[in-house]
Amino acid sequence: MEINVQAGDISAFAADAVVVNLFEGVTAPGGATGAVDRAMGGAISSLIAAGDVRGKLGEFALIHTLGKIAAPRVVVAGLGKSGEFSVDKVRALSADLARFLRRGRLKHAAVITHGAGIAGLDAEACAQAIAEGTLLGLYRFLRHRKEEEENGGELERLTIVEYDAAKLPALERGVERGRVLAEAANFCRDLANEPANYLTPSELARQAEKLAQEAGLECEVHGPEWMREKGMGALLGVAAGSVQEPRFIVLRYRGAGDPSTELRAGAKPIALVGKGITFDSGGISIKPAEGMGEMKGDMSGGASVIAAMGAIARLRPAVNVIGVVPATENMPSGSATRPGDVLRTMAGKTIEVINTDAEGRLILADGLAYAKDEGAAAIVDVATLTGAISVTLGNVAMGAMGNDAALMERVKQAAATAGEKVWELPLWDEYKEQIKSEVADMKNTGGRGAGSITAAMLLREFVGDTPWVHLDIAGVDFYDREKGVIVKGASGIPVRTLVNLVLQSAGTAAAK
Ligand code: BES
Ligand code: MN
Ligand code: ZN
Repeated sequence: MEINVQAGDISAFAADAVVVNLFEGVTAPGGATGAVDRAMGGAISSLIAAGDVRGKLGEFALIHTLGKIAAPRVVVAGLGKSGEFSVDKVRALSADLARFLRRGRLKHAAVITHGAGIAGLDAEACAQAIAEGTLLGLYRFLRHRKEEEENGGELERLTIVEYDAAKLPALERGVERGRVLAEAANFCRDLANEPANYLTPSELARQAEKLAQEAGLECEVHGPEWMREKGMGALLGVAAGSVQEPRFIVLRYRGAGDPSTELRAGAKPIALVGKGITFDSGGISIKPAEGMGEMKGDMSGGASVIAAMGAIARLRPAVNVIGVVPATENMPSGSATRPGDVLRTMAGKTIEVINTDAEGRLILADGLAYAKDEGAAAIVDVATLTGAISVTLGNVAMGAMGNDAALMERVKQAAATAGEKVWELPLWDEYKEQIKSEVADMKNTGGRGAGSITAAMLLREFVGDTPWVHLDIAGVDFYDREKGVIVKGASGIPVRTLVNLVLQSAGTAAAK
């Protein structure tokens, strides 16, 4: 879909619909809304007076213009209370609006820069939010169905019409960054929505290789032989039950310093590590049938890392980044790891497997050890790790746990910019008791209580002193409803947070 920026007067703009906006409680609209109102002979203000248009957040009023202006329709988008307006609301509103326009079978719409007018928000940030929200909101996973056309097709073009031509370059920058971020999140969604019979560990690796080629990243993909050489017994232990071979995916982005200097090769990278379980049956500790199909999305942490790496390569911040994704299925079979088995990790520490369904922390133990050995300056891992996190935080926020307050602060900042919610949980030493084992260095479950924390306590054993934050996304990776930028299926969370974190680390100037 095309999103462009154009200078001009929206009340004279020709498109299937022009979209203006209204805050709650405004009776005499000004700005672009006022201009359209005047051109329409006061149609909008009389609808307000009649109580038919109220400016409530999420309200879209469709008005036929009957030849009074160039566009056949005006949509008045409600912005809600002016004191509560924000860039997050612009993003969500743009997503809802895009679906509203698509339901109306419109192909080309023009909008003003919601928020940048009387709300006084930064124009570039608003343009970014419009592009981001529109592309995120229109996402559908249609690869395996053919009915797309009868649903009325797609919105093909959105034009942001700006009265002040001097603002155009900033708006264009915003649109471009919004597009890169949204397309990355949508790519993550594609991978996470793809059924596990299509998206095997080797197919995930192929997707990473293809992206690397397109975006200009280095990519290495390793198989079981390499894992044995590295001593990755935890990853191999999870893979043991599957006929699908595991893959260890490494993506490298080199953006630090001048290409010709030592610095470029030498600067320590930020490492992003993602759980890549392409299907989690639970293994021998098999899951109940109900809802098991959702476990095709148990690689969404890994997918978010791969997708974020693609966006980072497109935005070119001056920082080195590596993406690490251990990928495997978790299946029951005669060759599967059993409860009671002991696995030796790459780091040399041993783990007693109490429950084969606690497999994410096993593969991450080897993934994190690899990132640490690569000399990462900081590690952020992303995983659909525990059902317990949705007991704690519902599907509203991801859980964050770590060993470094400064890195945690940066992650929170990056998430706030993205409009993705994180909430920190503590990793107090007291919790370590719960993963002590009689037969190995630790065990892979922590018993009743604090399930998300005890999972993270195990991960912490593998990062050493490297600053590290773990994001448990099991509550927010998949939705069965649509609202704002959330659509049915995979959410693409936390791709935009990860990209923002890297951009903020490099200083946003480098990203522009
Ligand atoms: N992939 C699951 C966690 C999960 C649950 C993600 C629901 C998304 C939705 C993970 O591998 C798992 O099975 N965790 C177990 C751990 C337990 C056995 C200690 C869980 O949360 O039940
Ligand atoms: Mn599991
Ligand atoms: Zn899992």
